[in-house]
Amino acid sequence: MPRVFVARLRPRIGRGTSVTWSWLTGPAFVVNWCRYMNFSAECATESLALVHELSVTYLPDSDQPVHALDHASLEIRPGELVGILGESGSGKSTLAAALLKLLPTDARYDSGTIHFRGRDLLALPETALRRIRGAEIALIPQEPALALNPAIRVGDQIAEVLRAHVRMTRRDRTTRVEELLIEVGFDRPRPIYHAYPHQLSGGQRQRVVIAQAVACRPKLVIADEATSKLDASLQAEIIALMREISQRHRMAFVVISHDPTVLAGFVDRIAVMYAGRMVEEGCIEDIFRRPLHPYTQALVRLSARYLPSARTRVRFPAIDGEPPNLTGRIVGCPFAPRCPERMQVCTERDLRETTPRLSQRVSCFKYGN
Ligand SMILES: Nc1ncnc2c1ncn2[C@@H]1O[C@H](COP(=O)(O)OP(=O)(O)OP(=O)(O)O)[C@@H](O)[C@H]1O
Ligand code: SF4
Ligand SMILES: [Mg+2]
Repeated sequence: MPRVFVARLRPRIGRGTSVTWSWLTGPAFVVNWCRYMNFSAECATESLALVHELSVTYLPDSDQPVHALDHASLEIRPGELVGILGESGSGKSTLAAALLKLLPTDARYDSGTIHFRGRDLLALPETALRRIRGAEIALIPQEPALALNPAIRVGDQIAEVLRAHVRMTRRDRTTRVEELLIEVGFDRPRPIYHAYPHQLSGGQRQRVVIAQAVACRPKLVIADEATSKLDASLQAEIIALMREISQRHRMAFVVISHDPTVLAGFVDRIAVMYAGRMVEEGCIEDIFRRPLHPYTQALVRLSARYLPSARTRVRFPAIDGEPPNLTGRIVGCPFAPRCPERMQVCTERDLRETTPRLSQRVSCFKYGN
């Protein structure tokens, strides 16, 4: 197998990475160097999506403004599996909706940019965005029962996505939907095609929603807590399915979860969010073995003690203390009230991001600022 292909299939640092003389010869050198430096081959050229310093505020009519995203940045490379980890209210879904430019009308983009395949999403007209949503960026929502129309057969709902974006005959579309149903694990697709959502189990509905999301072979799929309503064994099956689809079609996935154990077996890289900010980002080995930020350390410690039952879904335990109120401006570190390593400087000055390790960035005064 050519070395370029090998590098594309195994873009993570650490796995069998060693510089040998054969690496230093021939055209594969650049690719192997990129891999050694924790870059995929594509990363050396361009990112798939780039969120830069994005700030978003919700302005509810009858309430105070909520600063849901505060200078959040994230890069997603082609074919990459990226996890977004954070407690409830940390801004994960706001970031996901922003990536699709689907924030509710009471949301205001304060600053920052979102680029997707070189295009500035915040500057695109709605007609252009409609062509991108579903075809190039797709969403797998948390609640499949709500995502599917109860009055329409599930096959027709998948076909509808194809009809909106791909030119094909009705018959070809039906065949394509059946192929998609097979791809997501249904041995006999025809009865599923003709079923209504209420006739399917929760796991089956989730598979249908995945088929719908990947129907047009998007470059980026966002799974917002897509398995949180499933029991542990079903969750593992769905995660394996999404990983397989990602690898087969080289689709990038952004997987959102409040539970590190969900991301552990799935993603290559994790971005940790707290109070609308990215507080740490690194490859999966770094986040689980060498977390830097005290918040990440607390999440990883809890995940080591947390054993979800195979049959029932146990809620991931909470860290002591409450996340901050996002209605006011936070000076310094938002995690300070809960942080066992808090110093005086932590609430006095604004934080900047640092890169203490090559592949890991963090916002914490412990690592210089
Ligand atoms: N439409 C809205 N109007 C006002 N505030 C909102 C709105 N949507 C979200 N928020 C607030 O913005 C903040 C971030 O919410 P978001 O839903 O992005 O968090 P999350 O990390 O996805 O949480 P969860 O894990 O519970 O889904 C929260 O404080 C939330 O209450
Ligand atoms: S900046 Fe200070 S308060 Fe915040 S996580 Fe680091 S040590 Fe704790
Ligand atoms: Mg959410």
